[in-house]
Amino acid sequence: MILLTGGLGYIGSHTCVELLKRGERIVIMDNLSNSREEAMDNIKAISNAGFIFYKADLLDKESMRKIFRENKIDAVVHFAGLKAVGESVVKPLAYYKNNVEGTLNLLEVMEEFNCSKMVFSSSATVYGSPERVPITEDMPLSTTNPYGTTKLMIEQILQDYAKANKQFKVAILRYFNPIGAHESGAIGEDPNGIPNNLMPYIARVASGKLECLSIYGNDYPTHDGTGVRDYIHVVDLAKGHLKALDRLAKDDTGVFIYNLGSGRGYSVLDIVQAFEKANGIKINYKIVERRPGDIAKCYADATKAWKELGWKAEKTLEDMVRDAWNFEQKHR
Ligand code: NAD
Ligand code: WQD
Repeated sequence: MILLTGGLGYIGSHTCVELLKRGERIVIMDNLSNSREEAMDNIKAISNAGFIFYKADLLDKESMRKIFRENKIDAVVHFAGLKAVGESVVKPLAYYKNNVEGTLNLLEVMEEFNCSKMVFSSSATVYGSPERVPITEDMPLSTTNPYGTTKLMIEQILQDYAKANKQFKVAILRYFNPIGAHESGAIGEDPNGIPNNLMPYIARVASGKLECLSIYGNDYPTHDGTGVRDYIHVVDLAKGHLKALDRLAKDDTGVFIYNLGSGRGYSVLDIVQAFEKANGIKINYKIVERRPGDIAKCYADATKAWKELGWKAEKTLEDMVRDAWNFEQKHR
């Protein structure tokens, strides 16, 4: 059995679908702090398969023990965490507690039950302001906000734990910018309130729920002056987790780190134009001041994941913007 913490969230739900499609048996745990129970029905409907669900919190160790007692968990895919950069600046303690303490609890319970395989959701945010692009896994790490620091701290904890416990193996996946949704439109990203991230914001402008996209700066040293990022279709990203689990099924132990990105950089204006073209909708936008903390360019060198996992992003920018809009229309 594979346990997915935070398995009802955006990336977790898509990974559940891919695992179920492959015939894996899965257990999902989530405290529903940033997801809804209805995601369960949607995952089941898309994959035509069932799973076990626990409404549980990583911070409640006893309820974590119950999951391991009642199921033979071979590996954990650890998505659960708080992820809003701005909120983490305002509520750092909540972020350290939930993300770092939650992961420590999980590792302790895994150890109690002799479970020694983990796939961890890290982020390109651990590269801070990268000195060059494309970014390789061996580049220096630093962070600019508490959310990012929780990811870096957890990576360090996993490194130290793997040194001390020779049975332990972990795949640290550094995601770039996941966007899009399952092609059915049944699951996708649905942030509460006004979205912070570009793609959900564009989708809400397209549907008329928000009036105008603010583009944060057009004076960056990029091809059109707007920020460049590595957008990756969430279904491609989900498939990367299956490849990482296959990697952990090999005999060797230790820490395996992979960038999961497309390896391509698109600007904010590229995304707006691709959305308009694929969906036939005009997006109102205005150029405003740079957003504090933003960097000009961030995109992956994803060669290591291709060489060692046989994984690469396959979907196009057109797929991403089309599926994001399909989800927005079906869902809201
Ligand atoms: P999400 O918020 O949609 O999913 C996270 C899930 O974890 C939610 O369903 C939430 O209810 C649950 N959760 C949070 N704290 C919990 C706790 N203490 N106990 C149990 N469940 C808890 O986020 P996502 O976009 O699917 O991201 C998944 C992971 O990937 C996160 O760790 C995030 O930091 C990381 N990540 C996300 C992105 C991104 O842009 N979406 C990029 C890089 C890394
Ligand atoms: C993308 C581009 C903005 C919104 C964040 C986290 C990172 C990771 C992924 C979790 C940038 C521009 C955005 C808007 C805009 N998450 N933009 N107007 O900042 O690359 O990464 O999500 O680990 O840690 O920091 O993503 O979608 O917010 O921004 O112009 O309303 O779009 O300036 O160039 P970002 P994003």
